Amino acid sequence: FMQEQTYKPLQGKKVLVTAGGTLERIDPVRYITNDSSGKMGYALAEEAHRMGAEVTLVTAPTALKFPSGVQVVEVQSTEDMLQAVVSRLEEMDIIFKAAAVADYRPAVQAAQKIKKSGDELVIKLVKNPDILQTIGERKTTQFIVGFAAETNDVDKYAMDKLIRKNCDLLVANDVTEAGAGFGVDTNVVRVFDRNGLVEALPMQSKSNVARRLLQLAAERIKGDN
Ligand code: CTP
Ligand code: CA
Repeated sequence: FMQEQTYKPLQGKKVLVTAGGTLERIDPVRYITNDSSGKMGYALAEEAHRMGAEVTLVTAPTALKFPSGVQVVEVQSTEDMLQAVVSRLEEMDIIFKAAAVADYRPAVQAAQKIKKSGDELVIKLVKNPDILQTIGERKTTQFIVGFAAETNDVDKYAMDKLIRKNCDLLVANDVTEAGAGFGVDTNVVRVFDRNGLVEALPMQSKSNVARRLLQLAAERIKGDN
């Protein structure tokens, strides 16, 4: 018998992860959402738990199995996710905002199924609140990690979002790059802080990317104390 000697740099830390694509209802049988498998967020939750953290996973619907040992909060809409995150903000040490949040939602949600009628249907959308920006404005000691999936000008958009949303780190990927797109088990990311590029991680499993991101956060919150 040997006691497992695992590396637990997040022991005693509270980590919140958001994952999946938020879902905005049009009517009781239809919705709009974003491309997102939830794999990066679930990998972060699972690895954070392994590294000793007390983990809360706020998840929009995905096809994935819930990671064990993690508190799961299921949400659908962006408003629900905002509420779930903001109500827990104060008690958290680290927040990973890996969810793909719908930027807009239908202006009205029909109570009954919309029946087929004319040749065109126009659905008016209104802007959703920005969860990351909201917590960026309200944060005190929390270490906040944002994400950005881009198709072009990755570095420019990444730095812009990091500053605008007041994140401590921003993790960007070019979804057009091989091994970095939606649904796959690998990712290729570039990590930024206020001073610019911190690390460019070559293609690797989302679990490995998650471990590295958690390590970076752990080092940086330690440095704060
Ligand atoms: N985000 C959020 N709330 C929103 C939109 C985005 O919390 N309403 C978060 C995402 O979870 C992610 C980060 O902000 O961590 C960047 O998301 P992204 O969609 O790339 O940023 P946007 O500001 O929506 O810009 P874009 O026009 O590129 O969609
Ligand atoms: Ca967006």
